[in-house]
Amino acid sequence: MPEIMLQQVEKSYGSVRVLPPLDLKLNDGEFTVLVGPSGCGKSTTLRILAGLETLSGGEIFFDGNPISKLEPKDRDIAMVFQDYALYPHMNIAKNMSFALRLQKRPQSEIDQKVKTVADMLNIGHLLDRKPAELSGGQRQRVAMGRALVRDASTFLFDEPLSNLDAKLRAKMRTELAEMRQSINKNMIYVTHDQVEAMTLGDRIVVMCDGIIQQQGSPEELFKSPVNKFVAGFMGSPTMNFLDGVLSQKNERVWVSGDGFSMPLSAELSSKLQDAKDSEVYVGIRPSSLSLDNDLEASITLKVSVAEYLGTTSVLSTRCGNAEVLVEINSTRRVQSGETVTFGVKPEDIMIFDRKSEIRF
Ligand SMILES: Nc1ncnc2c1ncn2[C@@H]1O[C@H](COP(=O)(O)OP(=O)(O)OP(=O)(O)O)[C@@H](O)[C@H]1O
Ligand SMILES: [Mg+2]
Repeated sequence: MPEIMLQQVEKSYGSVRVLPPLDLKLNDGEFTVLVGPSGCGKSTTLRILAGLETLSGGEIFFDGNPISKLEPKDRDIAMVFQDYALYPHMNIAKNMSFALRLQKRPQSEIDQKVKTVADMLNIGHLLDRKPAELSGGQRQRVAMGRALVRDASTFLFDEPLSNLDAKLRAKMRTELAEMRQSINKNMIYVTHDQVEAMTLGDRIVVMCDGIIQQQGSPEELFKSPVNKFVAGFMGSPTMNFLDGVLSQKNERVWVSGDGFSMPLSAELSSKLQDAKDSEVYVGIRPSSLSLDNDLEASITLKVSVAEYLGTTSVLSTRCGNAEVLVEINSTRRVQSGETVTFGVKPEDIMIFDRKSEIRF
């Protein structure tokens, strides 16, 4: 598989700059997941790689060779589009085999490949139909099948599972994870789904406005986000942020704000010794708040809504004027209107600079 490198890649549409100079290295055989808010340039990045958009600046290298002048068909890339882009007049079998037929592969090989992939995607019974006769989720699987029958070195997936129902989505995610282990290909996968990003990615790249905020393993991004954006983006329900001010008490640094005062971990305290009186954001994940009162730090919250989700419940609460989400095990039911003191381990409290939003 080629190692792919985007070097100072830029894309503008007229005066609108979508990608400022972007540097990104995709290691050989790696499953990379691109995440970021809508409109941040994820599809544009894939389309540039596939050769469907021209570059406004910079270069793309496959194993060190510049490829930006190559036609899409010469790039050895298969792409699954966000909007399917199926040929309406061709049946599903013809849609799926399009690239293989262009390559003039033997019919028996084409039939075999289409069948194997269609069975894997559970669309084997739809091969004679036209795209208009399928549901959105079925069309999405055809779009995926059309890419998977190809023997490309690199696969680009643009939200390939977004139109499937929850059960099918989970099944396809598992199939993809299995496929991932059996074939050694470069895969670049765009998704808005946290679980897909965390479970499929060897590496996750978090983008905002065309700028890479952080890249790393799912665990690195979750446990050590570099800034408030990444911390708030990774994890569901999303991290709580409260306005706080640092102060020194005994050996520890404390963070206080409207309705709370909590000690920080020994490690953070030593890092922040000189930062007392600084204005910060306090970041606490909903799952880090617990009904365990023995923990060193605690915060008292007034529950406004309790949402029962089965195994867990998500509580919307208030701390002063801020909203705080809490995720707890449903074995203990909390009612709307209750005032509850939640414990939190100091190691689970993150502190971000109020101005730069960088994590200490
Ligand atoms: N052909 C075009 N002309 C002008 N602007 C465009 C064009 N294509 C995309 N854009 C703009 O470029 C930006 C990035 O679009 P892109 O499709 O890459 O976003 P995305 O991250 O894939 O978003 P989503 O998650 O909604 O799919 C958007 O602001 C979009 O409006
Ligand atoms: Mg997109």
